[in-house]
Amino acid sequence: MQFFVDSTEISDIKEALALGLCDGVTTNPSLIAKSGRSLKPVIQEIAGLAEGPVLAEVTGSTADTIIAEGREMAAWAENVVVKIPVTIEGLKAIRVLESEGVATGTTLVFSPSQGLLAAKAGTRYVIPFLGRLDDISAAGIGLAVQIQEILSNYGFDAEVLAASVRNPGHVTACALSGVPIVTAPLNVYKQMAGHPLTDIGIQRFLADWESAKAEL
Ligand code: G3P
Repeated sequence: MQFFVDSTEISDIKEALALGLCDGVTTNPSLIAKSGRSLKPVIQEIAGLAEGPVLAEVTGSTADTIIAEGREMAAWAENVVVKIPVTIEGLKAIRVLESEGVATGTTLVFSPSQGLLAAKAGTRYVIPFLGRLDDISAAGIGLAVQIQEILSNYGFDAEVLAASVRNPGHVTACALSGVPIVTAPLNVYKQMAGHPLTDIGIQRFLADWESAKAEL
């Protein structure tokens, strides 16, 4: 299972790399805006740090503008993957870019039919948003599982990259269902390490050791 970091925070990406929890990085226009920097230097810096794919999202809405943006982004670094929203224009652009050898991810996927179209267009990553579906009382994990099933039914090369992953439960649900890639903020991965009984256990062991060690 691959863990991508959904962030433009360089310190978080470095920490995730040190933890062995950064198989790739995803960004989106909101995260770029939050970084206060422009797209190209942020993506180039991240692409230089991360060994895996770095997904940078286009903002164009016509196939021609998306293709132009995608070609430009792909030239920034070898590991840049162009992230494209699943619209009709986006699907046209995905076909063209993939035929030129530019790797794409298809984002803002909220239905199995969108996922199927993205795979048919030849995208490398189909990106369903779990948390945003949960926000409207739909089960995000169910969507990821359905898309996974569609991809494997027909042997598509595309992989599910589950996004809008906001808590350890989302990651565990993906792991139990065989979803190959998740992307989440570093904090979610750190939360996975925590358990109150672990903290209590450490405290007890240390207290017992402190009280006994003088006599040993
Ligand atoms: O990169 C897309 C994604 O992970 C967004 O997450 O929490 O804003 O729904 P969220």
